[in-house]
Amino acid sequence: MDYFEYQGGILHAEDIPLPRIAEEIGTPVYVYSRATLERHAQVFRDALKDIPRKHIAFAIKCNPNLGVLRVLARQGYGADVVSGGELERALASGMAPQDIVFSGVGKTRAELALGLDRGIGQFNIEHEPEGVALAEIALAKEMTAPAVLRVNPDVDAGTHAKISTGKAENKFGVGIDVAPDIFGRLAGLPGLQMRGIALHIGSQLTSLAPLEAAFERVGRLVADLRAAGHSITHVDLGGGLGVPYRPDDDPPSPADYGAMVARVTKDWDVTLMFEPGRVIAGNTGVLLTEVLWVKPGATHDFVIVDAAMNDLARPALYDAYHDFVAVEPTGEKMTASIVGPVCETGDTFARDRVIDKVKAGDLAVFRTAGAYGATMASTYNSRSLVPEVLVDGERYAVVADRIAAGTIMAAERVPDWID
Ligand code: LLP
Repeated sequence: MDYFEYQGGILHAEDIPLPRIAEEIGTPVYVYSRATLERHAQVFRDALKDIPRKHIAFAIKCNPNLGVLRVLARQGYGADVVSGGELERALASGMAPQDIVFSGVGKTRAELALGLDRGIGQFNIEHEPEGVALAEIALAKEMTAPAVLRVNPDVDAGTHAKISTGKAENKFGVGIDVAPDIFGRLAGLPGLQMRGIALHIGSQLTSLAPLEAAFERVGRLVADLRAAGHSITHVDLGGGLGVPYRPDDDPPSPADYGAMVARVTKDWDVTLMFEPGRVIAGNTGVLLTEVLWVKPGATHDFVIVDAAMNDLARPALYDAYHDFVAVEPTGEKMTASIVGPVCETGDTFARDRVIDKVKAGDLAVFRTAGAYGATMASTYNSRSLVPEVLVDGERYAVVADRIAAGTIMAAERVPDWID
């Protein structure tokens, strides 16, 4: 459910016709709907209504735009961050330090120190040496770091290999079999307050079964840790819930997820933490683009748009599907491959797809681009960094400028020893 709908035959973001944004801001441009974002934030929170103690930390890697974060901060959301840069963003958006969770497999000592200095709520420790380092840094600052240990439950999330994180061979967390020993040693360190367990098995999960299996394993671990005398007050269940990308996709709803979590965790007696990303932001954005050319090909026609793999990397990286619809559809259809201007065959958004018939100069959108869209953009081929717009009813604001290729070039230097 989103607020990108046709009114009078023209696709709107809430009450703003998309041609207006194209005209005033140019294309390509990401367009977000505040009402959709708020609705998803509300739906996810409602889905957890049967969970007595909880904290929701938006995985800001999926959309770190300050305007987006401010909307979520006002909804009471905290942040799951994975770098010093994300940490500063979460704070700049108005989120409270206490509501910030620091995940990530390669935190630097400087980032651990930053987290302590800013007073964040929780560190998710990925392996023993990181915990030891955090304890040392905290001790030197005469502080105690609230921390949980991330475990790798060794389940197959059934998603794309590049976004699976919970199999034994993945780089994340510590094996659940060795977790009790590691937890025991870390819990004995001054400077650390080891208070629980974290996990995250992957992203764009379209079945609850692997999540449930992983949570059950963690439930047994919590019982074992308690039996060994540890106080376990927090379990961070990560994110991962999938969203529909194709019109006929039917992933589990937040309500299904919430009911499963409530059932599996009912005797845990902990504060449950959640790190949703895509399910909050995915449907809240589209990438608005202009058709540059329709080029007849040897085997099929190409629709060449002004957005490219540097603006929306998911199709090139994961063969991901993003629905493509015309802003002013005529009702006619065509079969074509949709490609961008970048000089690689990988710069392909769709192959031989039946789409709305478009011609040069027409506007179209890639849907469900609010998560892992702009945040993964680059300037490859010396293209500009794509801008972002947030719509709120009848008004909109540019929440990230287009950064021109010239601005990027201005940060480069030719050393004077090259003659
Ligand atoms: N927590 C942790 C520790 C994570 O690593 C992630 C995502 C999340 C939460 C949020 O997961 P979500 O609810 O959004 O599924 N670029 C890829 C997705 C990478 C996900 C990385 N980790 C894509 O475009 O599909």
